[in-house]
Amino acid sequence: MKLHALITQFFPGNPTRNLKWKHKSRRKSCANHFWFVLFFSIVIFSILLCFNHLFFFDNTKGFVPFLGKSAYFPGKLKNSSTDSCSGRYIYVHDLPKRFNEEVIKDCQLITRPTDKYSMCKSLENFGLGPRIKGLNDSESWKNSWFSTNQFMLEVIFHNRMKKYGCLTNDSMIASAVFVPYYAGLDLRRYLWGFGVSTRDSSGVDLVDWLARKPEWKRNLGKDHFFISGRIARDFRRRSNRKSDWGSNFRLLPGSENMMMLTIESGSSKNDVAVPYPSYFHQSNDLQVHQWQEFLRKQNRPYLFSFAGARRSKQKGSIRAEVIKQCQTSKNLCNFLDCGSSPEKCDEPTNLMNLFQTSIFCLQPPGDSLTRRSTFDSILSGCIPVFFHPGSAYTQYIWHLPKDHNKYSVFISAKDLRVGRVRINQTLLQISKNEQMAMREEVIKLIPRIVYGDPRGGLDAIDDAFDLAIKGVLKRTHINKELIRV
Ligand SMILES: *[C@@H]1O[C@H](CO)[C@@H](O)[C@H](O)[C@H]1NC(C)=O
Ligand SMILES: *[C@@H]1O[C@H](CO)[C@@H](O)[C@H](O)[C@H]1NC(C)=O
Ligand SMILES: *[C@@H]1O[C@H](CO)[C@@H](O)[C@H](O)[C@H]1NC(C)=O
Ligand SMILES: *[C@@H]1O[C@H](CO)[C@@H](O)[C@H](O)[C@H]1NC(C)=O
Repeated sequence: MKLHALITQFFPGNPTRNLKWKHKSRRKSCANHFWFVLFFSIVIFSILLCFNHLFFFDNTKGFVPFLGKSAYFPGKLKNSSTDSCSGRYIYVHDLPKRFNEEVIKDCQLITRPTDKYSMCKSLENFGLGPRIKGLNDSESWKNSWFSTNQFMLEVIFHNRMKKYGCLTNDSMIASAVFVPYYAGLDLRRYLWGFGVSTRDSSGVDLVDWLARKPEWKRNLGKDHFFISGRIARDFRRRSNRKSDWGSNFRLLPGSENMMMLTIESGSSKNDVAVPYPSYFHQSNDLQVHQWQEFLRKQNRPYLFSFAGARRSKQKGSIRAEVIKQCQTSKNLCNFLDCGSSPEKCDEPTNLMNLFQTSIFCLQPPGDSLTRRSTFDSILSGCIPVFFHPGSAYTQYIWHLPKDHNKYSVFISAKDLRVGRVRINQTLLQISKNEQMAMREEVIKLIPRIVYGDPRGGLDAIDDAFDLAIKGVLKRTHINKELIRV
């Protein structure tokens, strides 16, 4: 509508000259006045908004165009209504090789005596590890199994990132910036027997390197993210005593501005947990669907099972109680003792067989609150039983549903310790129908918690990687809205 037409609509006659009209209909005039002011406020606001865009577009300080905004500049940016990547572009920092490639080059240095394979083998297949042999590959999902080391998540994620469909070299149109730093693997070289300055040095270097980049200066790194295959606590060493665990990477100024995707988050609001990598890495959607079908037909003779070791050193650990209750529920519970025969627990087929033949899988906290085993059990269609909300519910907010009663059982550790509840009784009370409904929920979660093979095709399902990226983009959009205000 034309401005002139609008004015005449709100001011019939000429109010400035027609004083009589003005006095007679004072109330009406007030109302008209109100509309007039409102109208002009809107016009002026709109004009300011346009200038704002023009200003920020040319002066690149402090603003990165995001979702939809490129439509204002059809000549210069891509047509946002046809650009399916609009709002999803990610810029990847070209880090010096010492922050990633060189960390894994000397793979013996990142290997621990307790590792099943040397990390050199775990690096095979783009970080997925050696293929699991001995499976009859007459069905397509049988090619999707790898003996994956959880610490390789950093490498797997980086390799998936390289295949991400909306990468850009133009950081101005990027909605988020990925920092391909192998934080956990780097730290693994120096965790045992090295001084604090050795453990901290690459983190200090990285923050220094980033701070000099224009991409960092724009938002002080608030749109940056990286991934760690170690728990958040490992990067929050508070003192400089050599005996204290971990590095100080996340306590460095600026570091906390970045979002850290990690297998277990800690106290920082910028940590978000993502699933541990398990053994299944599909090359296409069909393999996932066929695996889900296979699980639906599985026979599960055990009510519950547990794979793990005792934690004698930890006071107040409920592991001992969990193991005792499993062992005294002879025909109901299957226990794979990782303390007396660790080699059995390193064998993925043993673990998968255990979980595939059980209805419930116990997941008590261990050295930390979360366990890789949680994802191995979901992958096997085994309903997880948690004893602490921090083992999953408060962690994997992008990957697991809010309503945790649908896919898991919660038993309070305190009630268990004082003998108020028994594991076998609690689980026996759950009806066959309830079990089936929960198992179906668990099986439906599988696509969300697996990391597809980086060499695979880009298929329809959103896997753990895709959901992590969606979560990151949502967060950076919110952050940018806040920065603009
Ligand atoms: C953008 O794409 C839409 C839909 O294809 C089209 O109608 C429009 O003309 C395009 N605009 C420009 C500036 O290319
Ligand atoms: C694989 O399974 C098919 C069909 O179930 C069977 O005919 C074949 O003998 C099996 N191969 C091996 C190596 O077990
Ligand atoms: C970014 O630039 C590098 C080096 O010039 C090139 O190899 C790569 O394909 C570019 N990536 C994209 C997404 O344009
Ligand atoms: C249930 O667990 C208790 C305590 O661990 C044990 O004494 C009891 O025999 C178990 N019941 C069954 C049916 O296994």
